[in-house]
Amino acid sequence: MKQPALDAFWMPFTPNRQFKSEPRLVVSAQGLSYRTADGREVMDGTSGLWCVGAGHRHPRIAEAMKRQIDTLDFASNFQVGHPGAFELAERIAALAPPGLDRVFLVNSGSEACDTAMKIALAHARARGEGQRNLFVGRERGFHGVGFGGISVGGMLNNRRVFGSAMLRADHLRPTWDPAWNGTPQAFVRGQPQTGAELADELETRIIALHDASNIAAVIVEPFAGSTGVLVPPVGYLQRLRDICTRHGLLLIFDEVITGFGRLGKMFAAQALGVVPDMILFAKTVSNGAAPLGGVIVSRAVHDTLMQGPAHLSELMHGYTCSGHPLACAAALAMLDVLDEEALPQRVRELSPHFERAVHSLADAPGVVSIRNIGLAAGVELAPNPGAPGERGNATQCAAFDRGLLTRAPGDTLVLAPPFTSTARDVDRMVDLLRAAIQDTHRTHGTPA
Ligand SMILES: Cc1ncc(COP(=O)(O)O)c(C=O)c1O
Repeated sequence: MKQPALDAFWMPFTPNRQFKSEPRLVVSAQGLSYRTADGREVMDGTSGLWCVGAGHRHPRIAEAMKRQIDTLDFASNFQVGHPGAFELAERIAALAPPGLDRVFLVNSGSEACDTAMKIALAHARARGEGQRNLFVGRERGFHGVGFGGISVGGMLNNRRVFGSAMLRADHLRPTWDPAWNGTPQAFVRGQPQTGAELADELETRIIALHDASNIAAVIVEPFAGSTGVLVPPVGYLQRLRDICTRHGLLLIFDEVITGFGRLGKMFAAQALGVVPDMILFAKTVSNGAAPLGGVIVSRAVHDTLMQGPAHLSELMHGYTCSGHPLACAAALAMLDVLDEEALPQRVRELSPHFERAVHSLADAPGVVSIRNIGLAAGVELAPNPGAPGERGNATQCAAFDRGLLTRAPGDTLVLAPPFTSTARDVDRMVDLLRAAIQDTHRTHGTPA
């Protein structure tokens, strides 16, 4: 296949100059693998970007999208509506924890985050509490790249150049550090048993500093994915819930990665037994086949906003493609697939093997930590001296050359296989990752 000119496309979250000097182009995909322009197979070790839970080009989803494009290609959901968006919202509401049954549709995780933050601000105003305009996020959290998302997010590189934040935000400490409590947690399997008290900082420092009456909402990922799979200690999320309830704060779970099966239940809220006031979703909802995201909102929050003159929109917010017919068709088919192929259950069954397999990398050269939960794992390498991220990036490229798509936030290699993977597929991915780590060890030497 003739390679296209690479100059004009400014690639997102990619070292453009490096990529364009050594392009890694994929041209097709099927099931668990991509095919490159030069005909090689590359296993999808990250489900695309945490999207393709059901595997690539699932026939059910492809057919639903083909039918949709031949029936209704576009209708906005401003003032008119189309059945797919209503049906999808009803089905998502039925899958969500009790009490969360109103769904605002958007096109991405970033939009979902900004939407939830606007709903929180509007909710405060509607209750006569307009002073509640501070948000609480978490260091090393990722909530997309909108100005709301980077305000509550906790990734320095995503904030530095943009003035760090536009909305008022404070941040909890991250949930993971190998040195805490005197217990080395570098190779902890699943959720750490200690450290739930990290949540208390919400009350003892943040509320004590700002006062609860000024805080609109607390937003966290159930586990931090984009900074290398940082898993919350047992009881941590429940403590956050209890503190929020005690002080009248909304709790928002960003389930853009965890929603629709990654932890073995539809939502992490169910897998971890903690119910927030809003859930953000995107990615897996449409199996990545079309851009789609959303916010599941508690009935109580939604109903507070259903006021004002009947001829005016209750929330002045929305996107041209909110609930796009093609995306809704893909998502409705994906919900069928999740159910009919019992994908969350398959995740539950595969997770123990996945955990054993990724932890077998503990003796690979330069590995300093391994974390895992559900079908997600981070394998962290010691950084090259003075060049954080260099070793991770080199290993990610080596993995691709060997036939594995992984992703390296910093020096952590992430594995998040499709839910349709078998134990053998997982073993193959882990073998390829080990080989890539060894490659980097050979080319970059022993890290400090
Ligand atoms: C937890 C979380 N929130 C939000 C986002 C942003 O989603 P998007 O890239 O669709 O805007 C991501 C993307 O990886 C994410 O992991």
